[in-house]
Amino acid sequence: MSRVCVVGSANVDQVYSLERIPSPGETVLASGFATARGGKGQNQAVAAARAGAVVSFIGAVGTDSFGEMTSAGLIEDGIDISRLRRVASPTGTAIIAVDAAGENTIIVDSGANATVHVEDADRAAIAQSDVLLLQLEIPLPTVLEAAIAARTAGTTAILNAAPMAPLSREVLASVDVLVVNEHEAAQLSSESGVGDLTELVPTVVVTLGGAGAELHERGAGVVHVPAPSVSVVDSTGAGDTFCGAFAAAVGEGSEPRDALRFAVAAASLSVQREGAVPSIPTRAEIDDALA
Ligand code: RIB
Repeated sequence: MSRVCVVGSANVDQVYSLERIPSPGETVLASGFATARGGKGQNQAVAAARAGAVVSFIGAVGTDSFGEMTSAGLIEDGIDISRLRRVASPTGTAIIAVDAAGENTIIVDSGANATVHVEDADRAAIAQSDVLLLQLEIPLPTVLEAAIAARTAGTTAILNAAPMAPLSREVLASVDVLVVNEHEAAQLSSESGVGDLTELVPTVVVTLGGAGAELHERGAGVVHVPAPSVSVVDSTGAGDTFCGAFAAAVGEGSEPRDALRFAVAAASLSVQREGAVPSIPTRAEIDDALA
């Protein structure tokens, strides 16, 4: 059984469905509205759990109703929330506009996510896991501290560098796997002055949207895993589904290229449904898609 620890954000998403994303100064009418659980940390934790991993989530929510909604949802997904802190700040929120092609724009208010930090008991939870999964919606010093705790304990650290932020070489060098999209990969390699990110991180996964994903391993060639052709309803949370499923597979001991196939299949299922957490597939659905 794969044990995955996620240190990350939890948001409640306010999702507006639109024909097209409005231009600055423009008002448009939405064709639909929904409120759903989201946030890159929570999405990835749920994706790992639904993919079959035993998941613990280290994060923070407010003492408001969105905090209640988040805690209850995580418990429903079988995720250990004993390290989820209730703090005085409001639970993180996101305003998401999804257009007719399933593309989105997202505005995040960090709220409680800005207070996420790592304590001794969190380090113990990281040490007891096979995989630590990180994103960049929490303070960067917390990301670094968690990665160092993983390195010390021999836990595999996976960093999804989203949303994009400048990262020091120290942060990059402290993780085992980096998951980025093409733009993030280009920006990070130019900022850190390396031609190839595998000079800093042994395994780099580049997600390519509808074209699948690539595996770049230090000293090895590039492996491309194509995605099946599907009709996209909403791409929100597809990258997170990919990361969570990938982490679950890595924790099970899958070879990186097999973990990539598994993650691509999971993400392809998620884009066919609306929302972030509501779109994340189960293990049975992923296995069916692969079969
Ligand atoms: O990656 C999608 C997520 O980004 C949304 O759920 C939203 O909350 C933002 O964190």
